[in-house]
Amino acid sequence: MREKLELLRKAAFEELGGLTTPEEIEAFRVKYLGKKGELTAILKQMGGLSAEERPVIGQLANSVREDIEKKLADVKAETEKRALEARLQSEKIDVTVPGKRSPLGHRHPMYEVLDEIKDIFIGMGFQILDGPEIELADYNFTKLNVEEGHPAREWTDTFYFTEDSEVLLRTQTSPMQIHAMETMTPPIRILAPGRVYRKDEVDATHSPMFHQIEGMAIDKGITMADLKGTLSEVVKQLYGDDTVTRFRPHHFPFTEPSCEMDIRCHKCRGAGCPTCKGEGWIEVLGAGMIHPKVLEGCGIDPDVYSGWAFGMGLERMALGRFKISDLRLIFENDVRFLEQF
Ligand code: PHE
Repeated sequence: MREKLELLRKAAFEELGGLTTPEEIEAFRVKYLGKKGELTAILKQMGGLSAEERPVIGQLANSVREDIEKKLADVKAETEKRALEARLQSEKIDVTVPGKRSPLGHRHPMYEVLDEIKDIFIGMGFQILDGPEIELADYNFTKLNVEEGHPAREWTDTFYFTEDSEVLLRTQTSPMQIHAMETMTPPIRILAPGRVYRKDEVDATHSPMFHQIEGMAIDKGITMADLKGTLSEVVKQLYGDDTVTRFRPHHFPFTEPSCEMDIRCHKCRGAGCPTCKGEGWIEVLGAGMIHPKVLEGCGIDPDVYSGWAFGMGLERMALGRFKISDLRLIFENDVRFLEQF
């Protein structure tokens, strides 16, 4: 029996060395230490031993059991440790790997130009004003000396909200002149950018919604020379010192005299091309000296004060600034286009 026990210990130890999984370990435990296991089988034969041998064999059996149990516990702990390490290894996160960046957009090129224009005017002492896109016909037309029945008030050009033609989407930023004159006292220097709406078909130079920037200066002794000087300086700061401008006589009901300002075409430098429709020049704004009737209607004495105003097309300024040939590109929001700026 002594031999059997020694052999059992040896066999068990050998087998223990090859155990790797929890299933194998459990199977081993049942096989050697379980109720129907090999050690129990040997112990069952103890009845045939002499009284002297029995305690000796009993002690040996206990030590074999203890040895196997101890070694089994070690193997179990070892395999559990290895399993944990393997899991940690497979689930390892490298926090130093660079993340996936989501692409960050940037300001629309037209608003970049607007910011540049605002900065230039702020530097000249102008104040930025914001105003409503939904207007009263009174402000969009009447107070600007565009009386009822005037062709500019036609339904074909203007988006009206009401049958009585009283409420509309502003067709120009010029009503901001009236808002400023009614709420401020001269000297006044304002710049009012914003959206305007007209019933126009979309093409390379037209859109039913576009942006204007209204500018206005009122003080004692203001003349057309101030208007020309200011605008020439602005386009030079915006487009560069070699920018060529020209002023043409024009008519607006709310300015007298009135003019339009052109800049020499940025594409063909005046030779004539599709961008300037063969003209060599691109019209960028309408302007003039504020009509005395308009000043008076807003409570400003035209014998004391005078002023100029202009309305600039922002999209056109952006086309010129970035040398873009088609207005539609500004509104299409194709990132392949926008990414270039
Ligand atoms: N509001 C005019 C337009 O839309 C432009 C303008 C503004 C003309 C101010 C004179 C003075 O065409």
